[in-house]
Amino acid sequence: MHLNVAAALILNEAGEVLCVKRGASKFQSTAFKWEFPGGKIEANETAAQAAVREIKEELGITIEAIADAPCVEHTYPEFSITLQGVLCVQTTQETPQLSEHIEQCWCAPDELWKLDFAAADVPLLCYLREKAFGASLKTNCFGRYPHFLMACESTNDELLRLAERGAPAGTLVVSEVQSSGRGRLGRSWLSEPGQGLLFSFLARPQLPPEIAVTLPLVAGLAVTLALRDLGVAAGLKWPNDVLLGDLKVCGVLCEAQTSARGIEGIIIGIGINTGAVPAAVAYRATQVPGVLNRLALLAQILKRFEGLYERWEKQGLAALRAELDQCDCKVNLPITVKLSDTPLEGISRGIREDGALLLETATGEVMPIVCGEIMQWD
Ligand code: BTN
Repeated sequence: MHLNVAAALILNEAGEVLCVKRGASKFQSTAFKWEFPGGKIEANETAAQAAVREIKEELGITIEAIADAPCVEHTYPEFSITLQGVLCVQTTQETPQLSEHIEQCWCAPDELWKLDFAAADVPLLCYLREKAFGASLKTNCFGRYPHFLMACESTNDELLRLAERGAPAGTLVVSEVQSSGRGRLGRSWLSEPGQGLLFSFLARPQLPPEIAVTLPLVAGLAVTLALRDLGVAAGLKWPNDVLLGDLKVCGVLCEAQTSARGIEGIIIGIGINTGAVPAAVAYRATQVPGVLNRLALLAQILKRFEGLYERWEKQGLAALRAELDQCDCKVNLPITVKLSDTPLEGISRGIREDGALLLETATGEVMPIVCGEIMQWD
C-alpha cells in the first residue's frame, strides 16, 4: 500500500501540541481528526515526529520514512502558535488519488485559514486568537470584547447585530475573510482571504451628531499613527483613507446604529491590506510592507484610537489639531475634490475642526467641503 499521512499541528508558545489535524489514505478509517489538547511529545522527539508516532499507533501502520519525512514549520507570532506539518510516505501500493487528497488537506505556511476546519474546530482557532490578542491589548475599552471569526459577510454587519442586542462600547469583530465587505459610497471592499486585517469595533459616544460625524477622521488618524508607530510612513487622505505614497492601504467605513431615540452607537469598520492586494484594485492599492504581526497592529490601532477618542469626546477634533496636521498628507498640495459628480480643483488647506476639508480655489476663496472625497485614482 502506498500510504500517505499528512498532519498539521498547532502548537502553543511552549511547544505543546494544542491540536492535530491529520489526513490519511482514503483506505484508512481515520481521515481528518482534531485532538484537543493534543499529543504528548517524548524526549528526543520533535512535535511532528510525535504526531507521526501517534498516527502510526492509531492507524496501526508502519511508517518507514520518518527520518526523511519532509516537515514544514511556520510560526504565527500574532497567535503565539506554530503550525507544523509532516508528510510521510510508505510504498506498498499505488493510491494516486491520495496526492489530490493530501493537497486538499495540506496547509501551506500563511494559509492556516484554508484548512478545511470542521465547524466544531472553528471556535478553537478563534479562541486561540482571542486569547493571544487579549494578552497584547493595552486599552481599557476598545477591543475588550473580541469576537474572532474565520469568515463572515461583513464585520460591520456582524457588529451591528451585536450592537442591536446591547453589546457594550469596545466590542470588536475581526474576520479572516469577508464575502461582502463594504466600502464608502456604495463600493465594495475587496480583500483576499488571509491578506487583510478586517475588523469593526463599537463606540457609543454621547455627543451631538455634528461632533459624532467626525469620528471617522479619528479612526483614520488612529490607523495612520499606529502604522507610523511601526515605522510605516502612512498619511491620512481626507476624509478617511490611509495612504502609503499615492496608494491606499486602509479604508474606514463608519455606520450608525440607530433607534427611535437617535444614534445609539457607531460601528467603525476598518480594512487594511496587510498582504497582497486583489488584482482588481492593484492600480490604486498597496500593502503594509514587511512582515507584520496583524494582532499587534490591531492592538496598536485600538490603543491609538482610545487615546484620541478620550480627548475627542471632550473637545471634538479641536483636541486633535496637532495630529490632524501631522498626518494630513495632502495639505498645501493641489487636489481635485469630487462633489457629487462635479470635480473641483484647488489647493488643500487642511482639515477644519468640524471635519470639513478646506479647499482654496483658483479665485483664492477657501471653501469648506463637508462631504465628498479627494480624487486620486479615478
Ligand atoms: C472605504 O475605503 O471605502 C472603506 C472600506 C472599509 C472596509 C472595512 S473592512 C471591515 C469593515 N467591514 C466592512 O464591510 N467594511 C469595513
